[in-house]
Amino acid sequence: MKSEDKHDEDMLYKTECIDLAQDFDAGIAQAAELIRKGELVAFPTETVYGLGADALRSEAVSMVYAAKGRPSDNPMIVHVASIEEAAELAVVTQDAEKLMEAYWPAPLTLVLKNRGKVSPLVTGGLSTLALRMPDHPAALALIRESGRPIAAPSANRSGRPSPTKASHVMEDMRGRIPLVLDGGDSIVGLESTVISLAGENIVLLRPGIVVPESIESVLGKPVTLAQSLLEPMAEGTAPLSPGMKYRHYAPQAEVTLVEGTEAALRQKTMELYDAADQEGRCVMILASSENAPFYERRNCAIMGSRDDIPSLCRHLYALLRKADEEGMDVVLIEAVPAEAMGLAFMNRALRAAGFHVTPADPANV
Ligand code: TXA
Ligand code: MG
Repeated sequence: MKSEDKHDEDMLYKTECIDLAQDFDAGIAQAAELIRKGELVAFPTETVYGLGADALRSEAVSMVYAAKGRPSDNPMIVHVASIEEAAELAVVTQDAEKLMEAYWPAPLTLVLKNRGKVSPLVTGGLSTLALRMPDHPAALALIRESGRPIAAPSANRSGRPSPTKASHVMEDMRGRIPLVLDGGDSIVGLESTVISLAGENIVLLRPGIVVPESIESVLGKPVTLAQSLLEPMAEGTAPLSPGMKYRHYAPQAEVTLVEGTEAALRQKTMELYDAADQEGRCVMILASSENAPFYERRNCAIMGSRDDIPSLCRHLYALLRKADEEGMDVVLIEAVPAEAMGLAFMNRALRAAGFHVTPADPANV
């Protein structure tokens, strides 16, 4: 019997970490066996690391909620290795099939009508099911070799940034799960785009690097943006995606997004930095490579280039974790325009900042 306090402070597992670059086949075989036995395995995907369980077994799925410390009304994405497997678990409409054929395997999750085959704990009681075929050889090999659909949220403790390296998973999950597969750094670095096809309108529930404009061009139909992508959930509304109501991606530090262009943005960032610094607080700027040289002696970490939004997305979570590790009190993040892939970056950065944004004053340069 697994006791209730299985996931308390005690180190209940001696968590093993297998480097897939050294031993791909043995790592996948061991992980697949654990999944079939109803145990949990953390594995790499192209977006972020997932914490996987056999989606057909309630006992395994309930262990995911416990290991993450996640509220059980927040449903999970089920990972499959083909369109056929998706069609067994959910109703694949014409639009869904078009998207699967155009993108999968991809960082694109589709919310469809549930056929009720996976454990009801996966969906938290919803009549819909979120499905994704990940674009990562290890994730696909694990699904195929285990012969199971794999329910997997991001492999972080609830409220921490999603893990983009195996070492992040070890920080959060050591002692709580038996195995972590190390597939190196996640290429995308932010979670998948989530689109609902289960209602009358096609709705973007979570932005990612597959952008709504691209989905619209495949379907020839408009995609509606959920209300809470760039602002807190409106009071009293039922969330379309339960994950939206929880504070997410939050580091310990106080995070502020600085919005503006060029010189004004830099000026405001330096002002905020210097004010906090004078109060004796530890500050870190998450900057673009273009702006970093202007910050001179100030503590600054480069996310990537403003001309390459995916590079900013790839490093955001790892740098939020680094800020925590280094005991920062204040983190200042340079904002980007919330359009195309910038929408995904801003959606996550705003949540990390608890929607705390400081606009730069263009007149004050
Ligand atoms: O990139 C990703 O999607 C990663 C990797 C591991 O695949 N997974 C991930 O899972 O981000 P998670 O659990 O951290 O986020 C899943 C999101 C949550 O916001 C959840 O509320 C939403 O998808 N979701 C899941 N099932 C849903 C459903 N049936 N209807 C609406 N939203 C759903
Ligand atoms: Mg998550």
